[in-house]
Amino acid sequence: MYEGDIASVLITEEQIRQRTAELAEEIAARYPVGAPEGDLLLIGVLKGAVFFMTDFARALPIPSQMEFMAVSSYGSSTSSSGVVRILKDLDKDIAGRHVLIVEDIIDSGLTLSWLMRNLKTRNPASLEVVTLLRKPDAVKIDVDVRDVGFDIPNEFVVGYGLDYAERYRDLPYIGLLDPEVYGG
Ligand code: XMP
Ligand code: MG
Repeated sequence: MYEGDIASVLITEEQIRQRTAELAEEIAARYPVGAPEGDLLLIGVLKGAVFFMTDFARALPIPSQMEFMAVSSYGSSTSSSGVVRILKDLDKDIAGRHVLIVEDIIDSGLTLSWLMRNLKTRNPASLEVVTLLRKPDAVKIDVDVRDVGFDIPNEFVVGYGLDYAERYRDLPYIGLLDPEVYGG
């Protein structure tokens, strides 16, 4: 598939599966089962986080529920500006719930820090983040992200939910996009 567009495979399907299982075990251990706050509430950011979210939820050894938000961050197609607009908000109130944001990738961290601030105002019982991927620039932000699947180099990646111009999300692995595809 996508012959010639992927310069190399950065993270294989098997590595993703393994790491997701580890994260799910570690994270689940921190949440009480049968708590009065209800099941852990996973909030996924459309569309990139969908693949990680569904695999993560199935790997979690505790019950969880899922909600989705869609945001658009103004900027070019390969970087974000930090100016965020909600395209689809949550359908449910999260007050008093244990919330875990499930992210595909943190780059500048601007999208995430905006989202954390926004969700905190809705008074969840707790608010944490798990991200599959993190790029080097993310160390500059003040958001404390404890759970990271993989730290990756500062290159544009696609697959497993991540797109370039809406393509490549359906690849089962994370690959480096050949710079020729985006005219780099
Ligand atoms: P910030 O900079 O706000 O960006 O942390 C997070 C969002 O930027 C997108 N992004 C990427 N998307 N391959 C992608 O397909 C990448 O290498 C990449 N780096 C950043 C993504 O939408 C993410 O949610
Ligand atoms: Mg995108």
